[in-house]
Amino acid sequence: MSGLEVNKILASIILAILVVTVIGHIGDIIIDIEHHEMKETAYKIDVPESDEVIAGDAPKEEIIEPISLILASASLEKGEKLFKKCSACHNYEKNSASKVGPNLWNIINRPKANVDGFVYSKALAEYGGEWSYEELAEFLYKPKKFIKGTKMNFAGLKKVQDRANIVLFLREQAENPVPLP
Ligand code: HEC
Repeated sequence: MSGLEVNKILASIILAILVVTVIGHIGDIIIDIEHHEMKETAYKIDVPESDEVIAGDAPKEEIIEPISLILASASLEKGEKLFKKCSACHNYEKNSASKVGPNLWNIINRPKANVDGFVYSKALAEYGGEWSYEELAEFLYKPKKFIKGTKMNFAGLKKVQDRANIVLFLREQAENPVPLP
């Protein structure tokens, strides 16, 4: 056997090994892709859609208890104490100046965002309507959720009793308090 022939044979063997390896790899890649797709399909089937919907919708469905039923039996005294949470930013006496937040005199059924000279956020200025008992209570539950973009930086009153107490107190800050619902 001449050196050249040995070389040729070696070259053929190397080529054959290469071809086998490459084909093997391609096979692996194809299997991998198939495997991957299978995994994805299995995953999609594994997660029942109904569960996803429940999990996704739960926070949106947050139930905010209405105050109407407990308003008549709410506590003015406790409402006044609770107002300390608001007084850093709000006055409530007639003709008193606005602070960081607008004056709250006569707030029940008052048109939203209508204190003269107070610069409201665009969100509240454009919200429209009047502050009914329930709307006010819902706003106080989570201000930033009720009016997205409000500049009132207050986390909110989570307890329905607290909201009822404070709304009853605010109701009193008017010449002719609006009849209870
Ligand atoms: C850190 C300051 C701050 C605190 C605390 C705060 N507010 Fe406000 N409040 C504001 C600001 C600022 C606005 C104006 C919001 C806007 O323009 O988006 C506002 C707006 C309001 C409005 C709407 C008034 C209108 O003219 O339409 C009501 C009602 C209100 N606050 C009630 C309360 C009550 C009740 C509390 C306490 C439980 C409270 N706020 C706590 C700053 C505050």
